[in-house]
Amino acid sequence: MAPEPTIDGKGSHGGFCGPAVKPIALNMVAEIARDPKTADFPISAMGGITTWRDAAEFVTLGAGNVQVCTAAMTYGFKIVEEMITGLSDWMDEKGYATTEDFRGRAVGNVSDWQYLNLNYITKAVIDQDTCIKCGRCHIVCEDTSHQAITQTKDGARHFEVIDAECVGCNLCVNVCPVQNCISMVAMTGGADPRTNLPIDDSYANWTTHPNNPARTEAAE
Ligand SMILES: Cc1cc2nc3c(=O)[nH]c(=O)nc-3n(C[C@H](O)[C@H](O)[C@H](O)COP(=O)(O)O)c2cc1C
Ligand code: SF4
Ligand code: SF4
Repeated sequence: MAPEPTIDGKGSHGGFCGPAVKPIALNMVAEIARDPKTADFPISAMGGITTWRDAAEFVTLGAGNVQVCTAAMTYGFKIVEEMITGLSDWMDEKGYATTEDFRGRAVGNVSDWQYLNLNYITKAVIDQDTCIKCGRCHIVCEDTSHQAITQTKDGARHFEVIDAECVGCNLCVNVCPVQNCISMVAMTGGADPRTNLPIDDSYANWTTHPNNPARTEAAE
């Protein structure tokens, strides 16, 4: 036995590239763009860029240009022409003349996790008209989240969120194969049926929220 690919019977650890590294690369670009020490540096981004949407995402996080390796190796240079056409169409649609018009626009909305607003309460909502009743949302919520999605109603397959159980983890959205079938909807008033606590429209994060016994600062 030997690791593939083998060279004269031996395999070795190699580099990592393509779509698998994209989330890591996006984070690294965003970190450079939002750190005051490096924010003014020009950024040439790379890592998993395959479509014009990927390129646009890197530009919104501060990249002035992007580089492509794996996608060109997999599909040929034509892939770059498709990326240029797609990006150009999207920019026309949005009214952007150059990439400078949207470069870095998402940087201010990247936060460290501990500063996300814990008072922002959302519930998953399933669009019954587009649901194909595959049951994936039920399985993931039942087995690894909060048992907040039904499986049957009156003996028939039926997938509906139980607001009193939903913690807004977003897992069901990630596994649903139908685009926009499950939405996370913010609660803006009343009480959260899970905790019976009133919706609080003030901002409190992990360092200030009473839910965290180890909080370091007083809530506003
Ligand atoms: C087969 C292969 C060979 C590579 N050779 C080099 C190299 O010689 N020098 C270099 O700086 N990067 C090299 N890279 C890294 C790429 O330039 C690129 O930075 C990396 O693969 C991430 O981008 P990608 O996801 O678009 O491939 C190589 C990548 C691959 C897949
Ligand atoms: S958001 Fe999470 S807890 Fe709510 S229904 Fe979906 S998987 Fe279950
Ligand atoms: S995963 Fe999506 S399509 Fe499948 S049952 Fe759930 S809501 Fe319906």
